[in-house]
Amino acid sequence: MRNLLISLDPTSKNKVQALCEALRLSIRQGKLKPGERLPSSRAIAEQLRINRQTVLTAFGELEAEGWIESFEKRFYMITQTLPDTFLTPKGAASARGEKSAKEKSVRFARPVDLPLFPKAQDYEYSFPSGFPDLRLFPMKEFKSHLYDSLKIKDILTYGDPAGHPHLLEEIETYLRRVRGVASRKIIVTNGSQEAIFLLAQSLISPGDEVAVEELGYAPSWHAMRFAGAKLIGIRVDQEGLSVDDLEEKLKRHKIKFLYVTPLHQYPTTVTLSASRRLRLYELALKHGIFIIEDDYDHEFHYQGQPVAPMASFDPAGIVLYISTFSKILFPSARVGFMSVPQNIAEQVTQLKRMSSRQNEHILQASIALWMKSGGFEKHLRKMRRTYAERCRQFAGDLEVHREKFERLRWVVPDGGMALWLNLGQNTSKLAKKLKDHSIMLLPESLYRLDQKEGTHARMGFTGFTPKENQFALRRLFSEIAKK
Ligand SMILES: Cc1ncc(COP(=O)(O)O)c(C=O)c1O
Repeated sequence: MRNLLISLDPTSKNKVQALCEALRLSIRQGKLKPGERLPSSRAIAEQLRINRQTVLTAFGELEAEGWIESFEKRFYMITQTLPDTFLTPKGAASARGEKSAKEKSVRFARPVDLPLFPKAQDYEYSFPSGFPDLRLFPMKEFKSHLYDSLKIKDILTYGDPAGHPHLLEEIETYLRRVRGVASRKIIVTNGSQEAIFLLAQSLISPGDEVAVEELGYAPSWHAMRFAGAKLIGIRVDQEGLSVDDLEEKLKRHKIKFLYVTPLHQYPTTVTLSASRRLRLYELALKHGIFIIEDDYDHEFHYQGQPVAPMASFDPAGIVLYISTFSKILFPSARVGFMSVPQNIAEQVTQLKRMSSRQNEHILQASIALWMKSGGFEKHLRKMRRTYAERCRQFAGDLEVHREKFERLRWVVPDGGMALWLNLGQNTSKLAKKLKDHSIMLLPESLYRLDQKEGTHARMGFTGFTPKENQFALRRLFSEIAKK
């Protein structure tokens, strides 16, 4: 049984009264909460080095006063419904877990107020953006790797801040063999979000200008702004990032680096063509800027092989490559990574060491075991086939609805986990109305740097089966038809 954080007034001659007062004070201050179980009289007597009978007498007094009650004569607990008069204002607030009245006001140096993104779990029908179908994760197979990882030498101690050596090795091999990215240093991060955060902290000085896709990934913008960046939006069209627009902006702005999602542009899922990639690389080289390439769902490409990452041909070492296991494993794993030149890696690893020392190693080692066993790539092949089929079905279902909703427009993406649908009407307003019917729609404004409302929505198709998607689409369009 745990100890209590109380001490008796040493000047008090009456130990019973001293114990009663110490317990009353703890309750008033919210250190002991209503419904909480008290240690046994024997444990309290031992802790305070007093007679057990003294404790029992004090318990009897406190029970008579209404501070504590006995539970089936087995133990005592703090009375569940303590009268307010028993508690001081401060104690009352903290006992209920509320904000204390005496909270000192704080002027935060850099206040953070992140916007909330709609959560699929809060809706009956949804098309979550880029969500893996977690029901298909091979839990049993992975469990055995988790179990085995606990037997690895030194798994429980401090280790390399850049990641568990087994996972670093597996990622290195996988990136080289499957994505053609080699000869760089890998750092495992807490999701790719931390990779973006660490790079932003390492590269951006307050006031620096950073180029981002004007239709893009808001969590990356928050991290860059927090580091002091001023964001410059670059146009996105049917072929992805407009290199012409970037060239224009580079003439007028002193841009430090570009953050881009070339393979499946976020949120439109368009693939950046080979010719644009080449021009983009030359432009970055000419202006001496880094390219942060976010390749977040590389494996889910359905039309032939995915285009190799820009980092796979980077003789000048200007592409900082980041990726994640959130889509191919599960998001709560919080395992992302970056593959960057040595000098950047050293700086970022120091920063990581300062902020979190290292990621946890057990899950990393388990993933490494799964990768080594071949199970990981088998799972990927299965999921790629599944999602390709869901993409095909989803587009087919939309085709059916277009018979009634002629303004619907979309391009079936070559890959990715979502489709960028033009509904031909203001999707921000529509999303608000659909919310009342428990239908989640992710409107264009969520993805725009200027937050302007538009006619598109991002429709994820991977999180649910074709049947579930079909059903949700029917619900969506039957509600839209009523408007
Ligand atoms: C563009 C982009 N980058 C990265 C991620 C993955 O983030 P994380 O690895 O932090 O889960 C996502 C997931 O939604 C994404 O859409």
